Amino acid sequence: MNGSAIRIADLLFRWPRQPRPCLDIPAFEIAAGERVFLHGPSGSGKSSLLGLLGGVAQPERGAIELFCTDITRLSARVRDQFRADHIGFIFQQFNLLPWLSALDNVLLPCTFSATRRQRADDVRAEAMRLLTHLDLAPDLWPQPAAELSVGQQQRVAAARALIGRPELLIADEPTSALDAPRQQAFVDLLLRESGAAGAALLFVSHDDRLAAHFDRTVALADINRIDGAASA
Ligand SMILES: Nc1ncnc2c1ncn2[C@@H]1O[C@H](COP(=O)(O)OP(=O)(O)OP(=O)(O)O)[C@@H](O)[C@H]1O
Ligand SMILES: [Mg+2]
Repeated sequence: MNGSAIRIADLLFRWPRQPRPCLDIPAFEIAAGERVFLHGPSGSGKSSLLGLLGGVAQPERGAIELFCTDITRLSARVRDQFRADHIGFIFQQFNLLPWLSALDNVLLPCTFSATRRQRADDVRAEAMRLLTHLDLAPDLWPQPAAELSVGQQQRVAAARALIGRPELLIADEPTSALDAPRQQAFVDLLLRESGAAGAALLFVSHDDRLAAHFDRTVALADINRIDGAASA
């Protein structure tokens, strides 16, 4: 795919009731299909940036273009649908629906997005393929997400992000609850699946050892004019 997956221009973002902005990013771009490792200290604004990219928070100023659509100009409803169609999000806190089974959590994006449902073709078979690749045993698939270990929930969250091959994968500290061999397997799977789908990947982690596998490494402090770590 040509062009950019993410293009940020002149972005200013402040959390409500905060005296100063959290993000002031003059420019940042990720090419379509590019895999980027983003790091920065705790409290520096990494999750805030990802929330803006996911359209769950709105900036005070600036443009956030995803595949040439400025999501800041969309209505909340259209923005939600845009996210469902084009972004696979692995949240720092997973955000699984606790009462739904592991398998149904993975299938969820396909109920919100016809685009992803069509791309996945046989959605159940695709969900099972992803869970198998993520090393989640089949006897866990019918279990409610709340009854899985944290590491197991993290792998369900990854399968949910990958189903239906969204063009952009955003992962917020997705390996923090995994043991070292599973961390590596998890990153390998994300890179392999995003590569196969031609998807861009923005991967946030504290663990700099994982950076070597990515096309590019970005320190948030190098793109953000606010020194978030100063107040963290
Ligand atoms: N929901 C919120 N409401 C108000 N302020 C918030 C909220 N979430 C985060 N912040 C503030 O924004 C700043 C950046 O937080 P953020 O969660 O983006 O950091 P982070 O880089 O993701 O940190 P970590 O590595 O610990 O996950 C912090 O100072 C935090 O207090
Ligand atoms: Mg965070």
